[in-house]
Amino acid sequence: MKKILKILAVILVLAFVTIQFYRPNRANPPVIQAETLEATAAVPENVAQILTRSCNDCHSNKTVYPWYSNVSPFSWLLADHINEGRRELNFSVWNTYTAKKKRHKYDEICEQVTNGEMPHNQYLWLHRDAQLSADDVKILCDWAETEKAKIRDEG
Ligand code: HEC
Repeated sequence: MKKILKILAVILVLAFVTIQFYRPNRANPPVIQAETLEATAAVPENVAQILTRSCNDCHSNKTVYPWYSNVSPFSWLLADHINEGRRELNFSVWNTYTAKKKRHKYDEICEQVTNGEMPHNQYLWLHRDAQLSADDVKILCDWAETEKAKIRDEG
């Protein structure tokens, strides 16, 4: 029995070491200024701070990777989250969205933070400062509404 446990432990360690060779690509895609949120929307300092602190790791091409992103299998989970987050909403390519999509995303931003669905819970375990206060939620919602109204005016 002891021997089997030992063998199992060795296999586990070997497996862990082996998967370290399989790391996802962490290079951030380039940020093209004309494609960004800032290129088309007014982003006041207080809004920018919230987005940087709580959203941009998953919703921009300016991800700051934590140390554990070097360790598989966490690296895979992380890469998955970031890819999915960027696919849904990427402030670095915001200006490539149609007017209709921008309006919809502004609604979604307020909805997601009001319902406490964003930022993700798992993210908050390791990024406590990303937690939004009631003030933060209001700032984001007011901002989203103002910017959304501007798009409507553009026709
Ligand atoms: C840890 C990564 C992560 C962080 C941090 C994060 N998100 Fe997300 N977000 C995702 C993922 C993944 C999805 C897509 C699937 C889902 O809803 O889980 C998503 C989906 C969304 C959507 C839905 C888009 C749609 O049209 O349905 C919005 C809006 C959104 N996030 C806004 C935010 C905002 C605002 C913040 C900051 C306050 C934020 N997210 C922080 C990962 C993240």
